[in-house]
Amino acid sequence: MGEIQSIRGFKDILPDEAELRYELELRARKVFSTFGFREINPPIVERTELFSRSIGEGTDIVSKEMYSFNDLKGRNLTLRPEATASVIRAYIQNRLYNRGPIHKLFTIGPMFRYERPQKGRFRQFYQINAELIGDGGPISDAELIIMAMKIINGFGITEPALEINSLGCPECRGAFRDRLQEYLKKNTDGLCGNCVHRLEINPLRVFDCKVKGCKETLVDAPSILDFICNECKDHFDELREYLSISSIHFTINHRLVRGLDYYTRTTFEIISHTLGAQNAIAGGGRYDGLVRLLGGPDIPAMGFAIGMERIMEIIKDSGISAKKGHLIYFIPLGDKARKRLFLLLDEIRSEDLWAEISYEKKGLKGQMKRANKMGASHVIIAGDHELESGRVILKHMTTGTQKEIPFNGIINHLREELSN
Ligand code: HAM
Repeated sequence: MGEIQSIRGFKDILPDEAELRYELELRARKVFSTFGFREINPPIVERTELFSRSIGEGTDIVSKEMYSFNDLKGRNLTLRPEATASVIRAYIQNRLYNRGPIHKLFTIGPMFRYERPQKGRFRQFYQINAELIGDGGPISDAELIIMAMKIINGFGITEPALEINSLGCPECRGAFRDRLQEYLKKNTDGLCGNCVHRLEINPLRVFDCKVKGCKETLVDAPSILDFICNECKDHFDELREYLSISSIHFTINHRLVRGLDYYTRTTFEIISHTLGAQNAIAGGGRYDGLVRLLGGPDIPAMGFAIGMERIMEIIKDSGISAKKGHLIYFIPLGDKARKRLFLLLDEIRSEDLWAEISYEKKGLKGQMKRANKMGASHVIIAGDHELESGRVILKHMTTGTQKEIPFNGIINHLREELSN
């Protein structure tokens, strides 16, 4: 029978990578705790309607990238393509707004989008996602952006470029939308078929198009920043001030509309120029209307998500590695010794030390080879002779030195040595 392969766009995370991801996750969690963010974990499957309502029917995600299916009861469900909608659904459903005015929530986990797989783009990918719910001011925008940059810097990525924009509020965006539509209608010759369709239902989505002709057509398109109202402008100016106070460099990209419909006012992306076409390592923005749109009270919010796979792509050769503990490798010579060492093995593990016993019944030489290969720092050897004298041989693999230690003194000895 043939081998069964994984699905295209879904990859295995093998132990070396899993350990590195865990290390990154720990670093991100540390930053989250300094900003007062707490973990929330909504389920991976939700009703399809949650995503179509929040992300928007006219977006690429909802119109062609969702893993949707009917369950056995005929309910239409979707594997989440992003976390924001689920976090807000959970926030509303559990009435978290009754427990305090501000909620700072993070979640880390897999998302699913039926996109064409390529470098940095998968159908199952992981996001580190943060949402700050309950404040509408520019100070929380600044805090979130600073936190995203801190997390990314903490991964050893030193030159990420930050782009920001304001999409205005529903009021001022309307005038921009009309003007953009007018402009696009005059220039349909340069647009792809998709965008000709998009300009009717949601002209802002044309900014997402990667087709060269569409990009060229947009060069002279009107800028949203010329249309935003005074409140939105003040909000944007103040955000820029906070970023400057914090010495965060940024550029303004008035074409940065993001691929999800829920955004209002601030949007941002963090880009790495070392990546190819898929160069956004993080993206986010304010979404003041979403809690309301999903049936909750009128509460503003803002958030972002960092893409793990793209981070991994950048740092894979950077030398960051998961910290590995010392390995204490047991080599019993003979059945009696194996049983005696088996007990000691458990005692050492109870000290939170990494210990393994050789499963092989080979001679000393073969077993030492194995210990070396596994990167053991210490080897404990015992045969009949050592058993009789109540001792084991402890060998340091780096120096090659060895000494005899009494059975009952071994734990103290190791504890002392490894604490230095
Ligand atoms: P997004 O821009 O769709 O935003 O995704 C955020 C990040 O996830 C991207 O910058 C990228 O690094 C990563 N990403 C997206 N799609 C893929 C893929 N197919 N393969 C690998 N990585 C990918 C959101 O998802 C919003 N929910 C962010 C947000 C949170 N806005 C407010 N709160």
